[in-house]
Amino acid sequence: MQSKIYNWGIIGLGKIAKKFATDLQSVERANLKAVASRSIEKAEDFAQDFHAENFYGSYTELINSPEIDVIYIATPHVFHKELTVECLKAKKAVLCEKAFGMNKAEVEEMIATAKKENVFLMEALWTHFTPHYNSVLEIIQQKKYGKVKSLTADFGFKAPLDFNKRLFNKKLGGGSLLDIGIYPVFAALTCIGMPQKIDASAQMSSTGIDEECVINFEYKNEVTASLKSTLLEKTPTECVIELENATVKLTSRFHQPPSKIEITLTNGDTQTIDFPVHTLGYNFEAIHVQEMLDLNRIESTIMTFEKSLNLISLLDEIRNKIGLTY
Ligand SMILES: NC(=O)c1ccc[n+]([C@@H]2O[C@H](COP(=O)([O-])OP(=O)(O)OC[C@H]3O[C@@H](n4cnc5c(N)ncnc54)[C@H](OP(=O)(O)O)[C@@H]3O)[C@@H](O)[C@H]2O)c1
Repeated sequence: MQSKIYNWGIIGLGKIAKKFATDLQSVERANLKAVASRSIEKAEDFAQDFHAENFYGSYTELINSPEIDVIYIATPHVFHKELTVECLKAKKAVLCEKAFGMNKAEVEEMIATAKKENVFLMEALWTHFTPHYNSVLEIIQQKKYGKVKSLTADFGFKAPLDFNKRLFNKKLGGGSLLDIGIYPVFAALTCIGMPQKIDASAQMSSTGIDEECVINFEYKNEVTASLKSTLLEKTPTECVIELENATVKLTSRFHQPPSKIEITLTNGDTQTIDFPVHTLGYNFEAIHVQEMLDLNRIESTIMTFEKSLNLISLLDEIRNKIGLTY
């Protein structure tokens, strides 16, 4: 039985940092040691709310603090590469939010740095660690209902156009694809694999980001994936997988607890599987990071470097099709 307590640091104290810090409190052997913001007052408030011992008014101070084992990076995507490299060079393990980098070249640099410094690095694709999602992957991998014929996944909500918000700000890597479209793309990647052909179209906002993106993947044997992300309307945010002998649906919102699995067999019989989770769902990735650190690994066995590279390659190619450059 492992007994090492891991001292976590969080940098970038926005919306997702709060959710992650909430769930980290439920993780055994995880101690939120320090948090860092560009504002010392914000860091102090956050530290109080989540019982962190220390707080810093600069990211670099936390990164260089000898008391920290592992850092969760929760800034906008455009800063992920630079901060990850800084953390790794300071010999701090890194769990970095999605989108991991802005493009494949950035992700390659992040991974090369992890290898060079011999320090753990993982993309915080939290869905991959949740019980409901792993159950679906098991159904597919074991071919319980035959092979996959098609996958449909969407993620949409209505976000009021706001030039100051990360989502609409091109300089901060805004847009629906990198923020939420990444989940339908991740679903297709993990349930089917790398497509042979990609088509994509987008509606661009006046701020130059994709406010809606529609993507089609084609695989051999006429297998398809139809994917969509949008900031213009609330959509079901479900994932439906047609298999040879059943339809498997991950109910809304498919990428997070408490999504359920609804199975409809070709004879019409139905079954619903519930996955009671008493957290927001971010604890699972944090537990996995600690398990990887226990094993002195620099790479996750689940969200591997190859998977992150494949994911960013798909996002790059989709951006290329819709003419979105950052
Ligand atoms: N896994 C998930 O479920 C999930 C959900 C939402 C977002 N995300 C990802 O997490 C990251 C952050 O998203 P968020 O929704 O938490 O964003 P957010 O609320 O805007 O927070 C981002 C934080 O980054 C820091 N930051 C550093 N430089 C900044 C700059 N120039 N402008 C704005 N903020 C800056 C700020 O923290 P300080 O002021 O404290 O420095 C800010 O609070 C994104 O990469 C996003 O894709 C993941």
